Amino acid sequence: MSESDDPSYDDESYDATARIVDPGGHPADEDRRFEAALRPRRLADFPGQPRVRDQLGLLLEAARRRGAPPDHVLLSGPPGLGKTSLAMIIAAELEQPIRITSGPAIQHAGDLAAVLSSLAEGEVLFLDEIHRMARPAEEMLYLAMEDFRVDIIVGKGPGATAIPLELPAFTVVGATTRAGLLPAPLRDRFGFTGHLDFYATADLAQILTRNATLLGVESTPQGIDEMAGRSRGTPRIANRLLRRVRDYAQVQGNGIVDLSAARAALRLFDVDDRGLDRLDRAVLDALCRRFGGGPVGLSTLAVAVGEEADTVETVAEPYLVREGYLVRTPRGRAASPMAWAHLGLTPPTPSAAGTQLGFGDIEGRFGDSRSDTD
Ligand SMILES: Nc1ncnc2c1ncn2[C@@H]1O[C@H](COP(=O)(O)OP(=O)(O)O)[C@@H](O)[C@H]1O
Ligand SMILES: [Mg+2]
Repeated sequence: MSESDDPSYDDESYDATARIVDPGGHPADEDRRFEAALRPRRLADFPGQPRVRDQLGLLLEAARRRGAPPDHVLLSGPPGLGKTSLAMIIAAELEQPIRITSGPAIQHAGDLAAVLSSLAEGEVLFLDEIHRMARPAEEMLYLAMEDFRVDIIVGKGPGATAIPLELPAFTVVGATTRAGLLPAPLRDRFGFTGHLDFYATADLAQILTRNATLLGVESTPQGIDEMAGRSRGTPRIANRLLRRVRDYAQVQGNGIVDLSAARAALRLFDVDDRGLDRLDRAVLDALCRRFGGGPVGLSTLAVAVGEEADTVETVAEPYLVREGYLVRTPRGRAASPMAWAHLGLTPPTPSAAGTQLGFGDIEGRFGDSRSDTD
């Protein structure tokens, strides 16, 4: 999906699926402006992800001392955890310019050749959503990353010749929400892979406190903690909740982001006390009520909640799995006892749930083409 296809979310009407990004990973417009202002600029300003931060810190420091570009870096993890921010931080720490493009924007090898051949020595090339790049471009990228060379094909058919073009040494920073979709040869060309995980509440609280200050809003620690605990471990969601609670405090409250403003605003915007939003609950609800707890195939589940399979898989599922509401089994997605409890439902007894067979049928009839084990 290109940027111009972005649905423009009117944040007045909080839409569960708009809470993070569209499936293409592009934040809605308001988020984009807000994010640019609040993005941490340096590794030291980047709370959370201690492992990735320490590893990256070392990689960058070593490169700086050698005076050579560092290895290529792959960042993976669910949307909103800081991949784009880290890419910019890497460039800032290296004091190098950053060139930003994305997999979906590179549909032909020529698109990539144009970008690569204009890179300067040491420059950082950020390839967002790298798993969505076209295959021929991917192959060109292997060579470029390994040998700093591209072969420009001139002519067609038997007379076509490859003219090698040397490139200056540069650093690719790739980002992906779906590391599993990257072909192994591409994955292997990254000297460093950092997997971003959901943030601890304390880290989110730190981010929120800083951002409230940057936005010039007064807040209380209780208000901050309430938002941090209900942000699905995701800074982008924390930032979004902060804006909504700020709105609420300014319109209905005393202008201070405190516990009562946070609670009232989050109720208004359908974020429940565990931080699950409408899409999360719709997924659990469909699993429990319609499919007896599962297992059910991803695409069947996605149809039941009226979403793209990709959205369910990259946006809702990682957090539900990590929190233990949902389990991925070889035969599909299943609800955990926690999911039933969260919805206030009683799980069926094994004999009544029955129908291992029944679910097999559903799977078959809908022709689930996706693997549930990836
Ligand atoms: N560790 C962090 N500290 C502060 N803000 C963060 C952090 N990680 C992400 N953010 C904020 O969350 C938002 C989304 O981050 P982004 O880097 O765009 O995520 P991704 O590229 O993984 O989807 C941005 O506004 C960014 O400033
Ligand atoms: Mg991003």
